[in-house]
Amino acid sequence: AAMEEELRAGLREDGGSKIEMIVSYVDDLPNGYCATSAARLAAMEEEMRAGLREEGGSKIKMIVSYVDNLPNGSEEGLFYALDLGGTNFRVLRVQLAGKEKRVVKLESTEVSIPHHLMSGNAEELFGFIASALAKFIADEGPNKVLGGKQRELGFTFSFPVRQTSIASGTLIKWTKEFAVDDAVGEDVVAELQKAMEKQGVDMRVSALINDTVGTLAAGSYNDEDVVIGVILGTGSNAAYVEKADAIPKLKGELPKSGNMVINTEWGNFFSSRLPTTEYDQALDEESVNPREQIFEKLISGLYLGDIVRRVLLKIATQCSIFGDVDQTKLRSPFVLRTPDVSAMHHDETPDLSIVAEKLAENLKIADTTFEARKMVVEICDIVTSRSARLAAAGIVGIIRKMGRGTAGDKRRTVIAIDGGLFEHYVEFRQCLESTLVELLGEEASQSVSVKLTKDGSGLGAALIAAAHSQYAN
Ligand code: GLC
Repeated sequence: AAMEEELRAGLREDGGSKIEMIVSYVDDLPNGYCATSAARLAAMEEEMRAGLREEGGSKIKMIVSYVDNLPNGSEEGLFYALDLGGTNFRVLRVQLAGKEKRVVKLESTEVSIPHHLMSGNAEELFGFIASALAKFIADEGPNKVLGGKQRELGFTFSFPVRQTSIASGTLIKWTKEFAVDDAVGEDVVAELQKAMEKQGVDMRVSALINDTVGTLAAGSYNDEDVVIGVILGTGSNAAYVEKADAIPKLKGELPKSGNMVINTEWGNFFSSRLPTTEYDQALDEESVNPREQIFEKLISGLYLGDIVRRVLLKIATQCSIFGDVDQTKLRSPFVLRTPDVSAMHHDETPDLSIVAEKLAENLKIADTTFEARKMVVEICDIVTSRSARLAAAGIVGIIRKMGRGTAGDKRRTVIAIDGGLFEHYVEFRQCLESTLVELLGEEASQSVSVKLTKDGSGLGAALIAAAHSQYAN
């Protein structure tokens, strides 16, 4: 009690106590928790504006998608979709039946992409995709299902593409784990068409879209208040509906709708205000794309496990809390994956046996004490909360850019989200949702909600292909 009284006296006035209690003027600690300060949000908004002003004006590319109308339910007919963006890709066949009946049938198949194709050449990668498509339609017979009409396809290609029209665009660069060098700068639709021809597949690519645009389209097909689409999975990105006259780089005639969907490619956002640590810097240096996609590397599922591994490695080298461990596994990139982090974080067993199992299996850290396991859970929590808070900050940045989500705003603002990180990682999702409320404020946040939109990217591609069909009237 005496000490406490002295502490108080020191805070009351200078020289009031033997304990000085000096004011340091450091009012913000760089610990990753303050990832959502107003200044960071403002930096993101400014970058978004710069990206809309001119091509190459910002690290955030703000790509014009050429989608100026979101699906409204009236779409009809049989359409196909190809969805390429991660380790798996999907082929879909979707039967649309207009306003009342909507999606009457959706069939799909998922194929995993052999690892060597992700860093091979374009011909092999697109050849593989086209052959899966050929197999998918093999038992349909030649155009039989469409009564002689040419089949039409929406192509979801989830990498940064400079679009030149609704159905063409050149690859700016690869992200995530892909590095097929000879495809960079090429028109990905032309590559796909070439590969389809080789396989004898007669199909027209009616739309080329990003997965965020597909998620936004599928979301708004079911709820017209959906105005933002976000992916929180292997990678991370967002698309939203922008006013056409707020896009100075959009030259020529403005779309009749007055709107244009923008694929932000926010994964490439960088600001010195981002809470990066030595672990992030090392991860970036050793990645396939150093100094790129920094925001994505702080947030998305491809990286969270590896950030946790790097923290554990440092602990293992600097103290003996894990005992004497063989570090071979701890030093191997990507042996700890985000689903493992999620499983440890969710461990509700009284002795944290799932944590023990994961540490032993993935990192060869065996015989841990309960204290050590508790610390590991805490690390998972820190890394994941930082990610979820940054993702929420990105979403709020977009909401602000759209001039929505303020206290008096009567409109609903719904954000369609897809991706394993959001779908399966409960703590991540809860933290993201509570941060949205924190940033928007209790009152304003009432009109904002998030909605899981599973597999929206494939359905969205089919819907946009339908809207741009050569047979549409
Ligand atoms: C990466 C890609 C982006 C995609 C995102 C989610 O950030 O560059 O196009 O939307 O991953 O898949």
